[in-house]
Amino acid sequence: MDPNNPFPTSAFHRQDETPDAEFYHHPRFVTHLDDAAIAAVTQLYRDYFSPNTQLLDLMSSWVSHLPPEIAYRRVVGLGMNAAELRANPRLSAHVVQDLNAQPTLPFQDQEFDGAAICVSVDYLTQPVAVLRELARVLQPGAPLVITFSNRCFPSKAVAAWHALDDRGHLALVRQYLLAAGGWQAIELLDRSPAPGRSDPLFAVVGRAAGPAKTAV
Ligand SMILES: C[S@@+](CC[C@H](N)C(=O)[O-])C[C@H]1O[C@@H](n2cnc3c(N)ncnc32)[C@H](O)[C@@H]1O
Repeated sequence: MDPNNPFPTSAFHRQDETPDAEFYHHPRFVTHLDDAAIAAVTQLYRDYFSPNTQLLDLMSSWVSHLPPEIAYRRVVGLGMNAAELRANPRLSAHVVQDLNAQPTLPFQDQEFDGAAICVSVDYLTQPVAVLRELARVLQPGAPLVITFSNRCFPSKAVAAWHALDDRGHLALVRQYLLAAGGWQAIELLDRSPAPGRSDPLFAVVGRAAGPAKTAV
């Protein structure tokens, strides 16, 4: 077992193992949360992302849920569908990349001041590698906001996600960050707007620790 990745391979099996490019070939101009849960995501971004900074929206689509009243210097989206990404009015640039085939991010060290993964972490088959990369491309101290609810495309979510409930999902994402390394000040949040009346909304927030110091 890779000491840097304590999860068994079976944790990342999926019902649909066909290439993700096929599943995401056609654009889906839909939202994956109800309005109240989206508002909770937007409020988290207000709380954690500073105005006029450079942000990365990983696993992005045609919407980024960023606060409409706040301007950011640059927002880069990475996702699977070019038409969705082109239609996203918040993006300054976008990249189409299958993170399950290529988890290395095409960005410089410390290029971003914040990053988000909204309702998508459950589709990652190499989450530890992706989160290690995210720690690399963020400025030291920069926040990563990972949000999720209780819905998904079942055939594309990994087995570990299906095996757990909401609390388990929070614990799992925290374990992903710990296994990746390079994260500190990890918070597990329940920002569900109206339990029983809207989609629940959970978040795991971590801050990039910056490059490890090497002994001299
Ligand atoms: C449920 S949608 C969420 C989209 C958007 N983040 C939102 O909040 O509406 C899942 C997103 O994950 C992206 N995605 C799924 N599998 C991916 C992969 N293997 N590599 C990169 N992105 C992926 C898709 O492009 C899609 O936009």
